[in-house]
Amino acid sequence: MADTLTITDNRTGKQYEIAIKDGAIRATDLKQIRAGEDDTGLITYDPAFMSTAACRSRITFIDGDNGILEYRGYPIEQLAERSTYLETAYLLLFGELPTDAQLKDWTRQIVLHTMLHENIKKLMEGFQYDAHPMGVFLSTVGAFSTFYTDAKKIFDESARKKQIYRLIAKVPTIAAYAYRHSIGRPYVYPDNDLSFTGNFLNMLFRMTELKYQVNPVLERALEILFILHADHEQNCSTSAMRGIGSSHVDPYSAMAGAAAALYGPLHGGANEAVLRMLNEIGSVQNIPGFIKRVKAGEGRLMGFGHRVYKSYDPRAKIIKRTADQVFEVTGRNPLLDIALELERIALEDEYFVTRKLYPNVDFYSGLIYQAMGFPVTMFPVLFAIPRTSGWIAQWEEMLLDPEQKIARPRQLYVGATRRDYVPLEQRS
Ligand code: CMC
Repeated sequence: MADTLTITDNRTGKQYEIAIKDGAIRATDLKQIRAGEDDTGLITYDPAFMSTAACRSRITFIDGDNGILEYRGYPIEQLAERSTYLETAYLLLFGELPTDAQLKDWTRQIVLHTMLHENIKKLMEGFQYDAHPMGVFLSTVGAFSTFYTDAKKIFDESARKKQIYRLIAKVPTIAAYAYRHSIGRPYVYPDNDLSFTGNFLNMLFRMTELKYQVNPVLERALEILFILHADHEQNCSTSAMRGIGSSHVDPYSAMAGAAAALYGPLHGGANEAVLRMLNEIGSVQNIPGFIKRVKAGEGRLMGFGHRVYKSYDPRAKIIKRTADQVFEVTGRNPLLDIALELERIALEDEYFVTRKLYPNVDFYSGLIYQAMGFPVTMFPVLFAIPRTSGWIAQWEEMLLDPEQKIARPRQLYVGATRRDYVPLEQRS
């Protein structure tokens, strides 16, 4: 017998059988439940989508209670240990790990698209010297839609593929230019002999040397961080990507909106906020006072808590291990002691324990980025580079899903009832 939910409407005494599939009921099945002839039918109320699935997806699986994260079925721990970012991006986008020939072709396509149009450079030069790199990043991604007009052909598979290559390949270049712009240094062109992350480090940090020497430990650490950040199913920015994309706008415009969502301190801006918080705390002795203020509702412990994870974020565990390897090269980040003590106290404190608040991906990532020489303002941009693969994979899945339509939530109107216009002179 199929699983069903029986609902009795005590307004009318009628009973309804609602089908349950994959652990969910269809909200539109509730429409048949009406109090009377004029009633348009029952709808669900779910601010912040706490309990509403808006799509079927085959990309990323999360079991928040048990701290499990998988891309296309592969555990994040295995990918972080054995894969590269480009291979993981391929997996997210095309559903399977590439064969040797597919990986070579994919890598070649990415390498071919790393350069930016010189006019993009001019556009970026127009930003103020102290412009936040994430603001520069999202504006530049949006501007791409004016450069690649074939991006409008979203239902043409080959045109779509072209935009995928462009986006994956160009985001590190935009990010590096945004960084160089903020410190007043000339932009460095991509070096396509290097790996994806090696070239990124080159574009960020190369000075007058003819060939940038990539530190293999930092290159690998960045690969791991990129793999961990590549996708995270229906988070705020991905939902923005899907929502904007559902209007059938080009992917650059949709991604500018996704990047804007990521910019916020509750999402991708959290790693920046963690560093600011650790600096503000200043020393281990000040931690108890800080925790007290958080518990009193005066601010949050940034890098803690998650909508989905109600246990230790598996990405945070991997990042903590990676931090040790990075600090062996760069020297220990002095803020690490504060972070470790903060975590120790929080994990024992009743406030955090009862609310199931654990460190998330952002708690330790900023410490690594800072040790590698990035300013805090670059942290959200470092999140956006790998998340690009997740955004596009989710966008394409949404476009090709016959069940999807333009995203258009309902509302419960609780405002004033109909009233007549009052002329200005009669208003008190
Ligand atoms: N510090 C202190 N209290 C917290 C925190 C925190 N970081 N996070 C949640 N709480 C409390 C919150 O005040 C509430 O308490 P009460 O029930 O007494 O009102 C309870 O825990 C539940 O919180 P919520 O706000 O309903 O949870 P949410 O699912 O809406 O929020 C979150 C999730 C990630 C926005 C939130 O935990 C938060 O603000 N964390 C800090 C920012 C952060 O680290 N963001 C990065 C998220 S991971 C990377 C990403 O996806 O971008």
